[in-house]
Amino acid sequence: MKAIIAISEGGVIGNGDSLPWPKIPGDLKFFKKETLGKKVIMGKKTYDGILKTGQTLPGRKVFVATHNPELFNFSNKNRDHFFFDPRFCLIDPTDDAIIAGGKSIYEFYMPLIKEVLITMVKGKFEGNVLAPDFGVLDLAEVIEETDKYNIYRFLK
Ligand SMILES: NC(=O)c1ccc[n+]([C@@H]2O[C@H](COP(=O)([O-])OP(=O)(O)OC[C@H]3O[C@@H](n4cnc5c(N)ncnc54)[C@H](OP(=O)(O)O)[C@@H]3O)[C@@H](O)[C@H]2O)c1
Repeated sequence: MKAIIAISEGGVIGNGDSLPWPKIPGDLKFFKKETLGKKVIMGKKTYDGILKTGQTLPGRKVFVATHNPELFNFSNKNRDHFFFDPRFCLIDPTDDAIIAGGKSIYEFYMPLIKEVLITMVKGKFEGNVLAPDFGVLDLAEVIEETDKYNIYRFLK
């Protein structure tokens, strides 16, 4: 499975339920390109943060991890957003799903993650959520380099 993450200098990836940096259009475009038509797996906090910005992630099947069974019914109302408990739902590791964070979800799926798309955001930002430890990664591709961020593909 593949993970996608943006990391700023110092390892900060989140602040509360939001991203620590002001919108980076190039990175959002990359996220869209990589996730369109795919199953995207994320934690409830990340999902809430995204909805707060007014985005709804059209064109993707969004699987939101939660411990709260009361939310499972919500899945029926929005057929492209599903709430599930990853402890009880096995995901086929060969599935074309992409892990979109946050930290707890990267860590939960870490043993299955074989490829990581990392946007290295230039600059230091305030935040209380740090990047997970992906272990040893081999650089496979430099996807984009700009003055605000660089995007790389790594293999585990
Ligand atoms: N920079 C990036 O690329 C990037 C990407 C994604 C997110 N983020 C940031 O990361 C932060 C959020 O990360 P986070 O780790 O605090 O939260 P998170 O992983 O987004 O969500 C945590 C929630 O997911 C549910 N959950 C997590 N593990 C579970 C499990 N094993 N079984 C069932 N449910 C589970 C729980 O929801 P319930 O409480 O409902 O049970 C938990 O409270 C935000 O600041 C976000 O903006 C950054």
